[in-house]
Amino acid sequence: MSASSGASPSGSPAKRSKPHAQQAAPSPKAPPSSLSTPWARHSFISTENVSVEACEVLFAKADELRDKIENRKQVLKNAEGKILALCFLEPSTRTMCSFSAAMQRMGGGVLNITPSDSSVAKGETLQDTIKCLSCYADAIVLRHPVKGSTKLAAEAVDIPLISAGDGVGEHPTQALLDLYTILREQPSPLPETLHVTFLGDAKNGRTVHSLARLLTTYLSKRVHISYVCPVQSLRMPRELFDELSRLGLSQSEHDSLDADVVQSTDVLYVTRVQKERFESADDYLKAKGTFVVNPALMTRLKPTCTVMHPLPRVDEIDVQVDSDPRAAYFRQMKNGLYVRMALLGLVLDIV
Ligand code: NCD
Repeated sequence: MSASSGASPSGSPAKRSKPHAQQAAPSPKAPPSSLSTPWARHSFISTENVSVEACEVLFAKADELRDKIENRKQVLKNAEGKILALCFLEPSTRTMCSFSAAMQRMGGGVLNITPSDSSVAKGETLQDTIKCLSCYADAIVLRHPVKGSTKLAAEAVDIPLISAGDGVGEHPTQALLDLYTILREQPSPLPETLHVTFLGDAKNGRTVHSLARLLTTYLSKRVHISYVCPVQSLRMPRELFDELSRLGLSQSEHDSLDADVVQSTDVLYVTRVQKERFESADDYLKAKGTFVVNPALMTRLKPTCTVMHPLPRVDEIDVQVDSDPRAAYFRQMKNGLYVRMALLGLVLDIV
């Protein structure tokens, strides 16, 4: 029952071992294979090496599904007879509901597993729980508090497993919807060098880790990332920062929102201080409330700046900012539905 996980060398999400063991996923120039897209029957647990082609296939599909639902008012049946297991062993509102809605909007069924009603509470191993779900479902979405756990789980089963976040590790599907949102919100064509500023907890914010990786591949030399962390202890993990530098990413770190950063930022991506990841309440209190996006800051940002947040927010974006047309976080949340529909559809090979 072994299966590969993580991105394959060819730049696609992890390939299932069966029925095509050891076979690299198709690259843009590869001859046609039996798989209809690079996503088909793959697990997806990291944005490492996701190819530009794979993103484009996915985003085009998300647009197509959005059009069918919002404009043509179609009722989709692509997933009829398919079941998705949602195993969320950490709290979630948006990710869980959007995956559930995505599957149901395509006519599929869902199984919901939470910590209290799973045998994890009885001491069952994660691998056994996941193997059990693989007997009943066609794909699994897993959120787990431990970094690396989604990779181990993907290796234990022979159906696709999609990570919905592994502790302080990654949140790869959020990065897909974030990139899709950037492309929809920013003027087209994008600036020669897109300046993305992450404001907040870059250490524990898994959405930052996954999006920084994805931007590095997707935009290559056409992006600069600034990390603004008002508290030293919340800086981007050193090994990830160094890894992205080696891949050629242009990036810089700042203690505060300096005037030159504010004025040149195209995308301001705000994250909350991740309270649940702190070992001491004192450390959390020192970090909490050290930054806030308010109307005064909005007046200093570019008129074309896109303000994003994976949500939930605590107090880092003033509610008065919500009515600013540049505040994209609720649109970003909605995009998650269509991007996750597209992802499930492509992984299950039904769209
Ligand atoms: C994020 C997460 O869970 O990592 N939320 C989400 O999935 N939309 C961000 C967060 O919890 O702060």
